Amino acid sequence: MSYHKKLTIGLFGFGVVGEGLYRILQQTPSLKASIKKICIKHADKKRNAPVELFTTDKNVLLMDPEINVIVEVINETEAAFEIVTTALKNGKEVVSSSKKMLAEHMPELLKLQQSTDLAVLYEASACASIPVIRNLEEYYDNDLLHSIKAIVNGTTNFILTRMYEDKLDFKQALLLSQQAGFAESDPTLDIEGYDALNKWTILLNHSYGIVESPGNIVFSGIQNIQAGDAKVAQTKNQQIKLVAQAKKLLNGKVAAFVLPQFVGNDDQLAFVKNEYNGVVIESGFADKQFFYGKGAGSFPTASAVLSDISALRYSYKYEYKKLYHHQPHELTDDFYLQVYVSFQDLSLIPRDRFEWIEEWHARDERKYLVGAIHFRELKNNTWWKENNNSLILLPDPIIENIEIRGLKKRSLELAGIV
Ligand SMILES: NC(=O)c1ccc[n+]([C@@H]2O[C@H](COP(=O)([O-])OP(=O)(O)OC[C@H]3O[C@@H](n4cnc5c(N)ncnc54)[C@H](OP(=O)(O)O)[C@@H]3O)[C@@H](O)[C@H]2O)c1
Repeated sequence: MSYHKKLTIGLFGFGVVGEGLYRILQQTPSLKASIKKICIKHADKKRNAPVELFTTDKNVLLMDPEINVIVEVINETEAAFEIVTTALKNGKEVVSSSKKMLAEHMPELLKLQQSTDLAVLYEASACASIPVIRNLEEYYDNDLLHSIKAIVNGTTNFILTRMYEDKLDFKQALLLSQQAGFAESDPTLDIEGYDALNKWTILLNHSYGIVESPGNIVFSGIQNIQAGDAKVAQTKNQQIKLVAQAKKLLNGKVAAFVLPQFVGNDDQLAFVKNEYNGVVIESGFADKQFFYGKGAGSFPTASAVLSDISALRYSYKYEYKKLYHHQPHELTDDFYLQVYVSFQDLSLIPRDRFEWIEEWHARDERKYLVGAIHFRELKNNTWWKENNNSLILLPDPIIENIEIRGLKKRSLELAGIV
C-alpha cells in the first residue's frame, strides 16, 4: 500500500469506540481515510450519522473490492474473529480493538498474517491511548527488556483508588465506578481480572515473543480485596494495585502473571490513579521508563485506532520481531513469590504449603499472613482466590532461588502453625 493511497474503511461496530472513531475521522480530513460503510448489529437503533452508512449485512463490507481496510471494534468475540479472518482472506488489512478475540485467537491470526502478508494492527487493545505495543515492537530489543509491569485495567484501578483514598469498602467503590460509567453493569470481566489477563496475553507476545493462551497464565482480580487490606497498605506507606507483570529471570526464562500487589508510594505505578493506566519498562542501560495515559473511553481508544489506520498508509506491519527474529522466550513456573494472604477462615489456608511465614496477624479486623510460596502452588490451585481469601504480592515479589529446605519447617514451627 503506497503512502499516498487512499484508505477506504469498512467499520464494524458503532458503539463507544466505533462512534468515537467516526467523530475523530470527521475532524482529521488530512488522513485521507474515509468510512464507506458501517456494519452494526441492531438495525433499528438511532445513530448519530447518516442512515445510508449503516448495514447489518457484514458481506456488504467484506465483499466490497473498494474497501481496503476493515476496522473491527465490536463486542462479540467469535463474530469479531470471523470478520477479521474473512477480511484478511479477502485481501483487506485490519485494525481491531477486540482484546479478548486477539488474546484467544493469536496463533491463528499470526498464521493468517504470514500467509496473506497483510497487517493486523491492534494498538487500542492494550492500554488504549498509550502506544505500548508499537513501542515494545520497535524500540525494545529482546535482550534488553528486563521487565515490564503495568496497570492495564482502568475499572479495577478506579475501584482500588477509591477504596484507598475514600476508605470505601469494595462494594461501595464498585458502585461508584458504575455510576461514573467505568464499570459495566456486569463487571465480572474487569474485577475478576479477565480483561487485564487478555491484555497481558497480547503484551507478552510483543515484549518477549511469548504466545500463550490466556488460560495458562496465573491471574486474579480484586474481587476479594477488602477495606482492611487497603488499611494494611496504608500503614506500610503502600497502595494496592492490580499489576500485570513479566520479568526475565537469571536463567533467561520469563515469569509472568496478573495479580494484585502492594506498591510503595514512591513507585511509578502508585502515581497511576482512578481510571488511568500505566506501564513501567525496565531495560538494560536505560533503567526505567514510565508510560501513562487513558486506558479506555471513546476518544482515547479511538485515537489509538486512528494511529493504526494512519500507520497502514506507510505499510506498517508488526514484524513480531521477538517471536520470529530472535529465539522466543519461554515462560517458567519455577520461582517463588513473596505474598500477603488475608482470609476469613484459617482452616481454608493450607499453611504447610508456604515455604515460610514471617508475619501472622490472626486477631486483626482482617486476618492475614505474610510469607513466601512457590509459584506452582498458585498455578495448580485456586484456594488463594476463593472463599474471600485475597492474595496480594509484596513489592518486588519474585525470589528466583532460595535455600529453603531447613528454613521452611523451622519458620513454620516458630510461627506455631505446624
Ligand atoms: N470501550 C472502551 O473504552 C474500549 C477500550 C479498548 C478496547 N475496547 C474493545 O473494543 C471493542 C468495542 O468496544 P465498545 O466499548 O465500543 O463496545 P460497545 O459500545 O458495546 O459497541 C459494540 C458495537 O458492536 C456492534 N456489534 C456487536 N456485535 C456485532 C456483530 N456481530 N456485527 C456487527 N456489529 C456488531 C454493536 O452494534 P449495535 O450498535 O447495533 O448494538 C455496537 O455498535 C470491544 O472488543 C472492547 O473490548 C473497548
